[in-house]
Amino acid sequence: MYIFLNDKIVPEPEAVVSVYDHGFLYGDGIYETMRAYEGVIFMLEKHLGRLGRSASFLKLRVPDEELIRRAVYQTLDANRLSDAYIRITISRGKGPVGLDPALCTEPTFVVIAEQFKPYAETLYKEGVRLIIAKTRRNLAEAINPMIKSLNFLNNIFAKMEAKERDAYEAIMLNAEGCIAEGTISNIFFIKGDILCTPSLDTGVLDGITRDLVIGLAKGAGMGVREARFYPEDIFGAAEVFFSNTTAEIMPVSKVEDAIYGAGTVTRALRDLYRERVTRYVEENRGRKG
Ligand code: PDD
Repeated sequence: MYIFLNDKIVPEPEAVVSVYDHGFLYGDGIYETMRAYEGVIFMLEKHLGRLGRSASFLKLRVPDEELIRRAVYQTLDANRLSDAYIRITISRGKGPVGLDPALCTEPTFVVIAEQFKPYAETLYKEGVRLIIAKTRRNLAEAINPMIKSLNFLNNIFAKMEAKERDAYEAIMLNAEGCIAEGTISNIFFIKGDILCTPSLDTGVLDGITRDLVIGLAKGAGMGVREARFYPEDIFGAAEVFFSNTTAEIMPVSKVEDAIYGAGTVTRALRDLYRERVTRYVEENRGRKG
């Protein structure tokens, strides 16, 4: 496997980062997860846009977009990948111990690309089980969930709860008890004919998939409600799913003790999503950044 590290492709064993890297010492950095279909990186420009927004929250200097785009495609090529999981990580870089970002002169820039491992089809057919975690989502005034940061302990705690309770994913509430998001996903549910999802001001990541799903639903003439919701709202829903870049749209069969049915709306949205992917791949084939 080959990794893009700072300014070049290197074999994985040579892709090493200093123990003084502030990403390692303090979680000071950001990342993006992307998915490539048939050699085309889906919604690359949206991911780069969000990477840029995360960087400005941290006042982190990052390589320019052009360079990142080339690095990402170079990493795909070096590993001869077509359907891939891709991760960009940018940390504050190496510097003496201490919190001051000015101690680090150069950010560390890493691109990892691996063969995409498809999710089991039974998960999409049967849906997955979710719990509501006791761990609350970070306050926007503490670490804004809009930042896709390396500081992931908040989500890791909720994931540990999910694992302990044999669930696939955990829903985190915000400090006020409103439904926020999953540990690595946005949450949707259907109530009446309306597609509901927590509004961004609830304190969630502005998921690229979330945004696409909202657009697809509106385009299909569905009502969409972005608002503050509570656990009772999801318990009384007809269908529930979560969204993210890697799983796309994943049906949910259970949240705590509430059970959800066949999911015709979820399936229809999933079909629209797949069509969107196919169209995007056709339109962007051959682009290398
Ligand atoms: N996670 N919320 C959180 C906390 C996330 O970490 C993610 C993505 C999402 C969905 O965002 P998107 O649709 O842009 O993937 C929502 C990725 C998959 C990850 O951590 O690897």
